[in-house]
Amino acid sequence: MGLNKCKLFDRAFQKVMYVGLAMMHWREPEKIMGAGSLKTVAAKLGELGLNHPLIVTDGYLHSIRIYAPLTDEMDRLGIPYSIYGEAVPNPTVHNIAAAYKLYTEEGCDCLIAIGGGSSMDCAKGCGAQVANPNRTLAQMKGLLKVRKNIPTLFAVPTTAGTGSEVTVTAVITNPEKRDKYLMNDLHLIPHYAVLDPTLTYDLPKHVTSTTGMDTLTHAVEAYIGSANTKRTKENALAAVKLVFENLLTAYEDGHNEEARQNMQVASYRAGLAFTRAYVGTVHALAHAIGGFYGVPHGLANAVLLPVVLRAYGKSAHKKLAELADLVGIKGETAEEKANAFIAAIEDLNKKMEIGDKIGGKWKILDEDLPALAKHAFDETNPLYPVPKILSEKELIGLYKLIQE
Ligand SMILES: NC(=O)c1ccc[n+]([C@@H]2O[C@H](COP(=O)([O-])OP(=O)(O)OC[C@H]3O[C@@H](n4cnc5c(N)ncnc54)[C@H](O)[C@@H]3O)[C@@H](O)[C@H]2O)c1
Ligand SMILES: [Fe+2]
Repeated sequence: MGLNKCKLFDRAFQKVMYVGLAMMHWREPEKIMGAGSLKTVAAKLGELGLNHPLIVTDGYLHSIRIYAPLTDEMDRLGIPYSIYGEAVPNPTVHNIAAAYKLYTEEGCDCLIAIGGGSSMDCAKGCGAQVANPNRTLAQMKGLLKVRKNIPTLFAVPTTAGTGSEVTVTAVITNPEKRDKYLMNDLHLIPHYAVLDPTLTYDLPKHVTSTTGMDTLTHAVEAYIGSANTKRTKENALAAVKLVFENLLTAYEDGHNEEARQNMQVASYRAGLAFTRAYVGTVHALAHAIGGFYGVPHGLANAVLLPVVLRAYGKSAHKKLAELADLVGIKGETAEEKANAFIAAIEDLNKKMEIGDKIGGKWKILDEDLPALAKHAFDETNPLYPVPKILSEKELIGLYKLIQE
């Protein structure tokens, strides 16, 4: 199909999806918020008649026992639990298989994901497998393929963040196939989102910065896309404002409770926006280099966000100018405001020591460019209602701009 025909098809598909999604039942997790709120999950389990959770986390967080406030309380109350503590950044199909094995062997009846997007997505994948024991993860790839209720899932983000605590998405990597794919299904929305700012106090600075830029990317991509509802707009705007007002403080003063809590709320609200109104080309390009080279998701987004916004050109000026107004960035025309907003994103990156290239151990190889661009193009189209559909050739050009 030529690009023009493809564009017509994509826009028609997006309209149908918009109407379809409006008719679906969008559940929102129950929020449990505040410093020390993780501990209260133990009592909640009792209230819900749940007997034996599987805690899912990653290797590092397992080693520092990030879950200790909760497990100490469960020990006190005599609630048994099991721990899968080996999720890796960009969790793999193997992580999910191992977590699922533990879940069934230990007779678990609910899931508590404690960690960043990687731990939460690993738990979602495990939940999908519990709900569908006779189907492979690959069979649940894509849109609305989980189709059954997953066990009660508490999502406890320790980064701010992916928004996975509120989204329909799990992002899963198959390292053998160098594939990073999405499972999108309403059944994957966690039942509880636990926003305890103390869990993010000791985030390394580069994780605070890059995961914060992931949140900003969610909010911006959702807002400039054409699938917004009144609610997604409100959430995206709130998240952009919260990021501009709090990310730098959280970066510079990790134990600032207010900034940390606000970043968690930003992550949550950006998640609410993009899970309904989608992300865009930034995420598609980031997922491809995440799958190929393991580039951390937030870093990839931070570097790509200004590059893609510029490539959208005129098609995004009006919306970006609105975001500029929101955060007090000045300019005469919509174009000037949009460019100033993009420059402010670059400035924020710079202040947090995020460069404008992806390189070093994550070198983007010339010979991979066509495959990377195809991966990103196929992820974007027809699903993401981006302001401007970019061709594979244009996407290669964007990768070249961030190649070291
Ligand atoms: N499901 C969704 O809606 C969604 C959306 C965006 C991204 N993602 C996916 O989420 C994953 C990335 O998640 P992430 O950016 O949150 O990072 P992550 O979960 O991979 O964690 C990054 C690193 O930070 C460390 N870390 C996390 N919390 C910490 C803490 N409190 N203190 C110290 N270290 C801590 C982890 O151990 C890890 O080494 C990717 O796979 C991405 O594709 C999912
Ligand atoms: Fe993201």
